[in-house]
Amino acid sequence: MEHLKEDKKTKLSEFPDAFEQARIEKGYGEIDDQNDPVTMLLRLKDVRKTAHNWKTFISGAEPGRIVVPSEVHIRDIRQIPFEVDPPEHKSYRDLVEPWFKRPLEEGYQKVLKTIIDELIDEVLTKDQFEVVGDFSLKLQSRALTTLLNVPYKESETWIDWGVHVFRSEDTDLDGGKANILFDYLDEKIEEASKNPGDDLYSLLLSAVVDGKKMTKEEVKGVMILTFAGGRDTVINAVTNSIAYFAEHPNSLKRIAQEPEITGRAVEELVRYFAPLTHMGRVVTEDTQVCEHAIKNDSRVSLCWASANRDSAVFENPNEVVLDRKVNPHVSFGFSTHNCLGATHARQILKILLTSLAEKVSDIEIKDAKENIEEWGEFNRKVGFKNITVSFN
Ligand code: HEM
Repeated sequence: MEHLKEDKKTKLSEFPDAFEQARIEKGYGEIDDQNDPVTMLLRLKDVRKTAHNWKTFISGAEPGRIVVPSEVHIRDIRQIPFEVDPPEHKSYRDLVEPWFKRPLEEGYQKVLKTIIDELIDEVLTKDQFEVVGDFSLKLQSRALTTLLNVPYKESETWIDWGVHVFRSEDTDLDGGKANILFDYLDEKIEEASKNPGDDLYSLLLSAVVDGKKMTKEEVKGVMILTFAGGRDTVINAVTNSIAYFAEHPNSLKRIAQEPEITGRAVEELVRYFAPLTHMGRVVTEDTQVCEHAIKNDSRVSLCWASANRDSAVFENPNEVVLDRKVNPHVSFGFSTHNCLGATHARQILKILLTSLAEKVSDIEIKDAKENIEEWGEFNRKVGFKNITVSFN
């Protein structure tokens, strides 16, 4: 592994900006996606403006169409509140928002701290371990039991599904894979409807939205999103943070010495890594973005990853400035559909950084395979397929 250490010493935790040239020259990029092309918006100002304009750029199109790659051929169930526009969107959001703010409670954070400390203690006993499958997936799954308020042992099932449960290794469009989750949710929704408890399923099953009781189909639409939206994103954020601290041990020491910067460090790592590259919208009238004509019923995407490196807004955008003071990143989206799971994700990362700083003095990368997304002319590194490290 010597060659890896030498050649890649400062590179593995580097996430190059794939969009710089196109963002500066044109402000947008064009990609094909199953014959339903997407115009990617690359500048922070345009991304925010477009995300805010939900009338012209809607989320409530045919289910699956705002996702890139499109999922229209593999699902017909609507994800809620993600594929719903105002004013209905607000009714759903008002219902679930207090539940998703529970991570602000002290008791919730204590549970997360126990989960994270136990996991770190577990891997500290090993000579080396693979971070994606043996750390990040476990952490994400175990933490999700707290968010859903379901028994801890459920996480064992989710971990057994493996990292690629909602799509196969080679293609994002494997409907068969998604059925594992859909069947699981049908079963859990049935159980909760017969035997209501104090979990998220039961809350949704008893909910009345705009005077109507939520259907099982709608409950499933919320749960799919909760499982899928918070899986790869959290796994990448956790994995990439560990890679970063392996190559920047002084940053971890700094967090130990200046715990007050931990919140800012989390924001900065999330800005830099942008775990979700982009998300689409469907256009409801002929319009223009960056002097580029966009036709009614075509697709655009809001490229969070590119917007976060916009030098018109961020000083030294390609550097991790651990205590960056002004950081209006859009990794968790912007405006109407901003991430519902952000409070949970932020707490996980905050506690992770604190516990790593307390317990781990040195992280060594032994081996790694990068995960590169291909979006037409753009190749973007989003994380790792696998990365083996040792903790000391
Ligand atoms: C670091 C981790 C995460 C990142 C980077 C992330 C990113 C995002 C982004 C960019 C959006 C906006 C989508 C849009 O505008 O169309 C979003 C929405 C959403 N996220 Fe996350 N997410 C993360 C974690 C989570 C978690 C843990 C959950 C839940 C378990 C979650 C659930 C959702 C939901 C339900 C929405 C839709 C909100 C709405 O439509 O009102 N996310 N997320």
